[in-house]
Amino acid sequence: MENKIICNCKQVSVADIEKALHEHEHFASVEKAFEEVQMVTHCSTGCGGCHAKVLDVISELMA
Ligand code: FES
Repeated sequence: MENKIICNCKQVSVADIEKALHEHEHFASVEKAFEEVQMVTHCSTGCGGCHAKVLDVISELMA
């Protein structure tokens, strides 16, 4: 996956999300993974406009 910025407010990239995900290998759901990624990277804590994009990237990385 191309390493682009997913969350502009917090400057969180695909690689940042991937790194946050790999700190914990197993998540019960995409939502749980999102909570973890958000805690680590602070993505989607600004305008919130990237929420769906972040979820998409997480689903793709978890697939
Ligand atoms: S773009 Fe992610 S919170 Fe604004």
